[in-house]
Amino acid sequence: MKPQDVPLVKETLLRKLAGRSAVVGVVGLGYVGLPLAQRYAEAGYRVVGFDIDSEKVKALVEGRTYLAHVPVRRRLDATSDYSRAGECDALILCLPTPLAANREPDLSFVLGTMEALLPHLRRGQVVSLESTTWPGTTEEELKPRIEARGFEVGGDVFLCYSPEREDPGNPEYVTRTIPKICGGTTPACLEVGLALYGQVIDQVVPVSSTRVAEMSKLLENVHRAVNIGLANEMKVICDGMGIDVHEVIRAAATKPFGFVPYWPGPGFGGHCIPVDPFYLSWKARRHGLEARFVELAGEVNRAMPEWVIGKLAAALEARGAKLAGSRCLVLGLAYKRNVGDTRESPAVELMELLVRRGARVEYSDPHVPAFPKMRAHRFELQSVPLAAQNIALYDAVLLATDHAAFDYALIKENARLIVDTRGVYLEPAANVVKA
Ligand SMILES: NC(=O)c1ccc[n+]([C@@H]2O[C@H](COP(=O)([O-])OP(=O)(O)OC[C@H]3O[C@@H](n4cnc5c(N)ncnc54)[C@H](O)[C@@H]3O)[C@@H](O)[C@H]2O)c1
Repeated sequence: MKPQDVPLVKETLLRKLAGRSAVVGVVGLGYVGLPLAQRYAEAGYRVVGFDIDSEKVKALVEGRTYLAHVPVRRRLDATSDYSRAGECDALILCLPTPLAANREPDLSFVLGTMEALLPHLRRGQVVSLESTTWPGTTEEELKPRIEARGFEVGGDVFLCYSPEREDPGNPEYVTRTIPKICGGTTPACLEVGLALYGQVIDQVVPVSSTRVAEMSKLLENVHRAVNIGLANEMKVICDGMGIDVHEVIRAAATKPFGFVPYWPGPGFGGHCIPVDPFYLSWKARRHGLEARFVELAGEVNRAMPEWVIGKLAAALEARGAKLAGSRCLVLGLAYKRNVGDTRESPAVELMELLVRRGARVEYSDPHVPAFPKMRAHRFELQSVPLAAQNIALYDAVLLATDHAAFDYALIKENARLIVDTRGVYLEPAANVVKA
């Protein structure tokens, strides 16, 4: 490419992005990719969605959604055919970044997809990674792959990292109104990244590099993991001292400055908090550094399900019953209130532990009608509808997730024993044990 062509490539792309004539490819149409693809479509861009899951592709082409909180307002042009990447001016990667069995980062989805896209990459495209990952991924993993195809990053192809922020089930924020951080590999990459997101997001926050953007996302998630860990540790200490931790946190939260309440629970769940912080500790180790808060929070939070089951077993024993052979109902299968997302949900871990201790377990969750397909867990169960007669059938009701849809008065009136991990029942009651 001649040097004078560089501004031309960039200017052409900027013009297409600003004029909304650019074609936006969103790769990975899950919790992050689907709302983003919808947002671009809503703003008038032609969108091509890529996913390897043919069921998802079929649903979108037919105008159906598969995520309860993301209504599909218009049909999406979705495909599993990467050769269509050449049609796109922007390729936004929203792919899973899980942990491998050894709890180390598994970048195989991102790197495998990048490899598959490379043959279809062309001059004048912007590639933006949104998956949460360790600082340096964009520079160390994606940039060399693009360069190996003969493209100059920042000249022919523009490369960015822009982490996703999402709070499913929170009606106050939608994709457009959540400020979005963006870092570019070069100043030209950043300029293109800002143009890409600036059309569909109200506030785009530029940072000086992709590493800063990657690290800022990890800081946000580590912040949550550590504070949830602190709340859980406080819970165990308060419990040992006969103090109600929820009352303590509510009282502390009246301080108008310098205190942010975090709440204890039966563990940590969801796609991000139990996973992402360990991307940081892994990368830190490679620099000879130790992410001690991350590791400690992981230890405390991972110990919670066992601790809760211990409280449940003790409560049954105090009533002359045994956990083995008892009938337990887990309330709430999703990892947090008012959503149907069961990924990494501690409720599932609680069910596994109950079964391991010989209990018979069922669940009730209005957002999860049937126990979903999961890689590591299998229960052939349907959600139990809550009614006075069936609540009374269980030896214990384990409140794992405090959905607004539950009738808490009905549960309290009819349950023999409630083990409350969410601080729903503040008033002491003979049939309520806090855990
Ligand atoms: N869910 C959240 O609230 C959230 C918030 C912020 C950041 N993130 C991060 O965003 C990334 C994506 O998360 P998610 O929750 O959307 O995951 P997800 O599992 O819901 O979606 C990922 C999608 O990618 C698809 N996919 C997998 N391999 C593919 C391939 N080779 N080609 C095309 N599609 C492929 C899957 O079928 C799936 O539809 C992760 O790094 C996650 O940590 C998630």
